[in-house]
Formats: sequence, C-alpha cells, structure tokens
Amino acid sequence: MEATCSYLLLLSFFLLLPPRAFAAGAVADTFSKGRNITDNETLVSADGAFTMGFFSPGVSTKRYLGIWFSVSIDAVCWVANRGRPVNDNSGVLMVSDAGSLLLLDGSGQIVWSSNSTSNSPVEAQLINSGDLVLRNRGSTTMLWHSFDYPSNVLLSGMKVGNDFWSGAEWHLTSWRSADDPSPGAYRRVLDTTGGLPDNVVWQGNAKTFRTGPWNGLWFSGIPEVLSYSSLIEYRMEINSRQVTYGYIVKPGSAPTYVVLTDTGMVKRLVWDAKTQAWQTYYQGPRDVCDVYGKCGAFGLCNSSAAATSFCSCLKGFSPASPSAWNMKDTSGGCRRNVKLDCGGGRTTDGFLLLHAVKLPDTHNATVDKSITVDECRARCLANCSCLAYAAADIRGGGGGGSGCVMWTDDIVDLRYVDQGQDMYLRLAKIELPLPPPSSPSSSSRQFPTAVVAGASAAAVVAILIALLILVVVRKRRRRRRYTISAAPVPAPVVPYTEHQPSPTPSAPSADHQLSPAWSVPSVEPPSPASARTVPCVKLSSLKEATGNFSKSNIIGIGGFGIVYEGHLLDGRKVAVKRLHSSLIDEGGETFMREVEVMSTLKHDKLAQLLSYCHEGNERILVYEYMKNKSLNIYIFGEDPRLRALLNWERRLQIIRGVAMGVSYLHGLCKEVIHRDLKPSNILLDDNWRPKIADFGTTKQFVVDQTDPTLVQTAGYTAPEYILERYLTLKCDVYSFGVILLEIVSGQRNRTTPMLLSNAWESWNQGTINELLDSDVAHPKPELLFELERCVQIGLLCVQQSPDDRPTMAAVVTMLNSNISPIPPPKRPVPDGRTESPLRGADRSSTQEGASGTSRDSYTIYLT
Ligand SMILES: *[C@@H]1O[C@H](CO)[C@@H](O)[C@H](O)[C@H]1NC(C)=O
Ligand SMILES: *[C@@H]1O[C@H](CO)[C@@H](O)[C@H](O)[C@H]1NC(C)=O
Ligand SMILES: *[C@@H]1O[C@H](CO)[C@@H](O)[C@H](O)[C@H]1NC(C)=O
Ligand SMILES: *[C@@H]1O[C@H](CO)[C@@H](O)[C@H](O)[C@H]1NC(C)=O
Ligand SMILES: *[C@@H]1O[C@H](CO)[C@@H](O)[C@H](O)[C@H]1NC(C)=O
Ligand SMILES: *[C@@H]1O[C@H](CO)[C@@H](O)[C@H](O)[C@H]1NC(C)=O
Repeated sequence: MEATCSYLLLLSFFLLLPPRAFAAGAVADTFSKGRNITDNETLVSADGAFTMGFFSPGVSTKRYLGIWFSVSIDAVCWVANRGRPVNDNSGVLMVSDAGSLLLLDGSGQIVWSSNSTSNSPVEAQLINSGDLVLRNRGSTTMLWHSFDYPSNVLLSGMKVGNDFWSGAEWHLTSWRSADDPSPGAYRRVLDTTGGLPDNVVWQGNAKTFRTGPWNGLWFSGIPEVLSYSSLIEYRMEINSRQVTYGYIVKPGSAPTYVVLTDTGMVKRLVWDAKTQAWQTYYQGPRDVCDVYGKCGAFGLCNSSAAATSFCSCLKGFSPASPSAWNMKDTSGGCRRNVKLDCGGGRTTDGFLLLHAVKLPDTHNATVDKSITVDECRARCLANCSCLAYAAADIRGGGGGGSGCVMWTDDIVDLRYVDQGQDMYLRLAKIELPLPPPSSPSSSSRQFPTAVVAGASAAAVVAILIALLILVVVRKRRRRRRYTISAAPVPAPVVPYTEHQPSPTPSAPSADHQLSPAWSVPSVEPPSPASARTVPCVKLSSLKEATGNFSKSNIIGIGGFGIVYEGHLLDGRKVAVKRLHSSLIDEGGETFMREVEVMSTLKHDKLAQLLSYCHEGNERILVYEYMKNKSLNIYIFGEDPRLRALLNWERRLQIIRGVAMGVSYLHGLCKEVIHRDLKPSNILLDDNWRPKIADFGTTKQFVVDQTDPTLVQTAGYTAPEYILERYLTLKCDVYSFGVILLEIVSGQRNRTTPMLLSNAWESWNQGTINELLDSDVAHPKPELLFELERCVQIGLLCVQQSPDDRPTMAAVVTMLNSNISPIPPPKRPVPDGRTESPLRGADRSSTQEGASGTSRDSYTIYLT
C-alpha cells in the first residue's frame, strides 16, 4: 500500500514536470562528453527517485550543483560545489577530455572538478541509489562516485568510516546554514580508533554528541532504531580492512535519509506520502543527557531527574567541586571516595552493576571480542588500571552478551538509556554492598585466589562497617536505582535478532514503554488492538469516589465538563473529568482513540491518565491529582503572596520542566502537537514541579496536519495558525514562548498586548530586571543571568516565522546549559495581530478556560 503510494507519487511527479525540465529528462540518467548539463536541465535516475541539477538553497540566489530526492527538492543529499557557488544561471556541468566531471561558471572558470582521469571516454550516470557514478563507457568499474564525497546526508548504500588499506575516510559535514551548503561547524565521524565504533558529532575539536558504541545490533545510545528496523537494515563492517557503517533501505520502503543539520542535530527522516512531508523518526541529541560529557568524568546523567540537574555521581564518587556542582555546573565531574585496593597480585575490589546505560566514551578503551564476559571480569579485576568493563557485543553469552570492553581512563558521557547495556564499575570493597548470603562461594570464585586466601577476621569487620555505611548511603540515596551484583547477572535479552520479524511501528513492545525518555515512532495512530490502554473503571466506583459527583467535590468547570476531586479506596486522591453529555460521541470511538493516544504518552512532566470510564453515555477520564493546582493561580495571582510563593528557582524549574514535557510530546517520531498550551493547563505537584495536562486535545501530527476544528486559546496561538491554519509543532513552541515570558513577567499576553515587544526591548537593552515580576523577591546575580538567557529563549520561541523558532529539543538543550549559544531573536511583531483574527463563536474565547468546540477534542480545565 505504501509502495503503491510512492509509486503513484513518482508517476505524478513525472506528469507534473514542467516541459522544459522534461526535455532535460530526455537525457535520462546518463550523460557523456559533448552533452552539457546547463542550469535549466536536470538528470533523473532511472527509477525517478533522485534528480541532479542546479538549485538555490533557502533564500540564497546562488546556484549549486546537487542531487535531491525527486519528491522534495528541499531534501538535498549531495552538493558538488559546496563552498564555491555559481553566482548566476551560467553554470555548466560537462565531462572533460581528461575524464573528469567539470563544473564551469559563465566565464569558463572551473568551479569544481571530480579530479578523475581516464584515457578512454567516460560517462556519468545518476543511479537509482542517488549516487552519481563516473565510469568508462561500457565498463562497470567506477572511476569516481559522489558517495565517496559525502555532504551532510547519509543515503541508503553510502558508508562512513575508514578504509585502512586505501587510507580513505568518509564522514558527514553539516551545511553552514540552511541557505549555505558550504562546510559548516559540525562533522559526524565514525570513531574507529577506539574500542568500538561510535558515531561522534564534532564541533571544531569538541565532541558534542555520541550515539554510543556499536553493540552488535545498534548504536547503544539510540535503541529507537529497533522500532524502524522494518524500514532499514544496518550495515556495520568491522574487519582488518575497514570499519564502516551504513544502512540499506528494505525493498518497498518509503524514501529515507539521515542528515546532520547546520545546528549539529542528527535526524532520520522518512517520507510520508500521505502528508507529503518528511517525518522525523529519530533526532539526536534528543535531550540534555545526550550533550557530550554533561555530567563530567564519573558522572551519570538521568534525563528524568531534572530536579537534580540531571546529573549524579556514580556510586562511590562525589562531586570534584561541590560548589560548582551546586551551581549546576556538573562538567567538572566526580572523584572517587575510597581508593581502590589493588596491587602486588591481589585486590579486594569488586564490581557494581549499572543497568541500562549508554556505554561511556570508548575512545581509549580496550576491546577483546574473543573472550566471554566472565573472562572479561576476571581480566579487569586482575589489572589494577581497569576501572570498568562491559560486554562488547550484546549478542551471545546466553543473554549476557559476549566479548570485553575495559576502561582504564575516566568514565565519560555515561547516561541511562532505554534498552541500554549493563556496565560493571570497579569499586573498593567498602563501597560495595554485601553479596547476598546465598552466594558467597560464587562471588569469591570470581576473585583471584590470593584474595580468597587473604580473607580474614579483618574482612569480617570491614564487611560490618560496609554494611553500616551502606545503610546510611541507601537511606540518603534511595531514589537512585543501582542493581548490585556479586557475580554477573544475565542482562535482559533484547528480543530482536537480525532475522527475526522486527517490532512493527504500531506495536510497541513492552520494553519500549519502560522509559519515558522517548516514544515509539508510529506512523499510524495506535490501533485498538495494539495499544496498551490504561484500565477501564466502573462508573459505580467513580460515583463512590466522588460522592456521586457531589457539588462539594467540584474542583473545576470548563467548556467540556466538570472536574471532581475523587478519593479512591486506597486513599489516593484523583482528578475525575466527566465530559459534558453534549460531547459524547456515539459508540465512543473517538473517545477511545484519545484514551489510547493518552495512554501511550508517559512522562513525568505530563499529568498521567490513570484510568477511564466508558459506560452508556458517560465518558470519564481519571488523572493523577495535583496538590498545587495550576500555574496561572500563582503567576497571575491577585494576591502578591501567591506570586511570591513561586520564587525564581521554582519558576526556572517550571520553565525547564514544561519544555521537557512538550519536547517529549514532540518526541522522536510520534510528534504529538499539544495545541492548547497555557498556564491553566500546567499543573503543579507538591514540590512545584510542573506537569502538562490536557494533552487529550492533541492529535498525532501524522493524522491530520490541518484540522479545522483546532482548540486554542487567545494569547497563546501562533500567528501562522490564526492566519493560515498552518499547524505544526512550531505552534506549540510559540505557545511555550508566551508562557515562558508570562512566567517571568507575571503578566498575561492577552491583557498586556505589548508584553512580547516589551520583553524584547528589555532583553535588547540589557534591562531584564524591569521585566521581572516585582512581587517575587529579587533574583541572585547568577539567577538573573539564567533568567536573561531564559527570556532570550522565550523571545526566540515567539518569532513570527515558524522557521525562526527553535525546536523544543533545542529549547531544552539551551535551557539546560549556561554556555550553549542562543541566536539573537528579532523584535516580535506587535501582539495585536494575534488577537484580531480570532473571531467566530466557535473559537473566540473571552475567558481563559473556555475554548472552541470540537466533537473530537475533549478539553476540560482543572481550574
Ligand atoms: C537552457 O538554456 C539555454 C541557454 O539559455 C538554452 O539554449 C537551452 O535551449 C535551454 N535548454 C532547455 C532544455 O530548455
Ligand atoms: C559545453 O560547455 C563548454 C563550456 O562552456 C563549451 O565549451 C562546449 O562547447 C559545450 N558543449 C556543448 C555540446 O554544448
Ligand atoms: C580536486 O582537486 C582540487 C585541487 O587539488 C581540490 O581542491 C578539490 O577538492 C578536489 N575535488 C574533489 C572532488 O576531490
Ligand atoms: C531517573 O530519575 C527519576 C527521577 O528522579 C527516577 O524516578 C528514576 O528512577 C531515575 N532513573 C534511573 C534509571 O535511576
Ligand atoms: C583518551 O586519551 C587521551 C590521551 O591520554 C586523552 O586526552 C583523552 O581525553 C582520552 N579520551 C577519553 C574519552 O578518555
Ligand atoms: C592493563 O590493561 C591495560 C589496558 O588494557 C594494558 O595496557 C595493560 O598492559 C594491562 N596491564 C597488565 C598488567 O596486564
């Protein structure tokens, strides 16, 4: 079905080609000496998938020779004259007598050359893979081909890495900007020098992002690939001749490519014929923990632990500079608390299991694929410079993997990741918990015999002390999850091999659901059969919980129904949203679809849907209860004490949290647009941590891009939606920007029409003090600095043009760093414009809390 679509698409592409270009199509996919390609001509591969010709990127008027996907001229995958554009339409591509491809400008100057040579006639062909190949006529040997000179895109069949025999090296280089394909700031290089191949993004000589090492099946930091393994197959070659990586699109799959963007992002895009747009299946860095070395040496990043700035030290380590760490500068890393005890052929050290991590940088690690993980453990223990080990390949070893990686340097860039690997960290015995009483013999077997012999009464005392310390440490750090093992514990096996049917995008496996950090890509909305929805509860028990929906339990009334406080039998409080009877869809299919979508969205920054009820004409949603109600109560509070309650630390924490929640919704592949972000939809828990509510009005982006029945609220709606009904993720970015500026200023955008321009003015003049809500105690200097960055980010989010707004992932990165650069925002367009077009009874809303009606949107407000 999908294949048919793209086939039809290609057909229509040919039919729609302007006649002039079609004349060029007559040269088909091949040309040779005597047949020049001028600016108005193109070469099209035999199957029509790729086109080569001259183009101007973005707003540039300069001309470049490039190859792009025929379905979308914006998807340029290769550029010949990257740094040397032709200034007008006079460019000519020709084959020279000496056997090279030459690009000449109007004055006959060589702008670019393939530098190939041949004595016999050559011809150039754009083959179906998108590779421009130069060979001798009638020969199959390539003299030159464009895949050897990658730009910023990795296509199916290309490879990056090293050929050690020829000395060749292939990597991607970003464009300088969307309008300028000359080599930009970022490179994506396959690191083949270290223990295991790892895709590293470099900015100058600083690493910015790693995918994590190859684990035998995928790059360990991006398990997302498992969810689209029906689309592509990885090709990793590791042998004495070469270490290279690439992928092959499986037959009949949609067009897809990997791009390194001008901002250093790596994206996997897949063409969706239905919406005629590229869908992002993967994007990295995906969160703050992907920022290289975020937590420094021996630090560990947890993307759900915003409250502790995401970073913690590994067990047995403490911040190298506690003061810097307190200031949220974690890059200095951590130091070992208790020295290792190793030397003279004996050691009392042991290992601590870290479960589900992206393995740290293996650049200086030692790899031996030929031994087992048990042998690896013994080898690491016997070598006093070995600080940690892990399996080199997750396959084999009866589930525990096989092979051996040993680290002797600092452990850098370690994070938790869904479906991550197990790693064993060497620690002094006193830092380790006691082995379970049942297995003392199995644990001592792992130690060199000298150690066993050395065990004495002193050891018993040490163990007792360790036990005491352990109890204290456990109490203090209960929230961290470390699994302890004395002997290697078999790692959970990933239910996937190259030959097994892979998980289909619409049927996420249980493992995928474990981590809130990313969602399983889905091209289709979850079908009732595959989605794992929250439980259905009986109407009678909800009646019981709310005192038969008694008035005294009402905590909110909105256009869509009533919200009650409910008390479950186990003592838990919940928020029960009972939809208005006028909104009940017959059969409840729409309702169930929304429930399913909401059930798949799990993140600690989203208010969690706990259960639902669908009985007769009742449609009820049960959410977790938020003690502190919603954000608007505080930031717009009449009572200055309410405003003061949210001090600047809390406000910054809320801004970061909301950004993470929205970024999760925008996620990797699911791309859920919230559509109605506003302070009354942001709930606060007992610790003033935000949770986004009412994402029930969201729609999966892929379902419909321009839904005319959109629910939005005046003051938060992006101009392009108001004016053109153009709905993208960037609409949420706009709403987020407004909320951010409202949180900082305590003013409503809707009632303070100059809020955005005033904010820009203050930022531009360096007087953001004047913007800050004066009911909140004045911030400390370092907070003022963070607030200033925050305002700048907020201003970027409310830029008039959606393209000028950052993605939410970029917002999260900027918000969580004190150093990452933030582009200067342009002055926002006066806000009056965003107000006036909101007319018509169906969507104008004079009071926040009411909003447009739509039969398939369920929106109730908790306030
Ligand atoms: C392209 O432009 C050149 C020069 O302007 C012209 O001679 C030629 O006929 C055009 N080719 C096509 C295919 O239109
Ligand atoms: C191809 O272009 C070159 C350089 O502009 C020119 O010298 C040559 O005559 C052209 N050949 C044809 C067949 O147009
Ligand atoms: C061809 O050679 C020139 C001069 O050495 C060099 O600048 C250019 O990058 C080479 N082109 C390719 C495609 O390798
Ligand atoms: C990450 O942090 C969150 C929030 O503190 C916590 O619930 C979760 O267990 C942590 N994850 C791991 C793997 O420790
Ligand atoms: C690898 O070793 C070099 C040289 O000692 C050092 O500069 C670099 O930081 C190390 N890299 C890692 C990731 O440990
Ligand atoms: C310990 O391991 C390192 C790194 O693998 C190696 O260079 C060194 O020779 C080993 N030392 C001993 C004593 O085996």
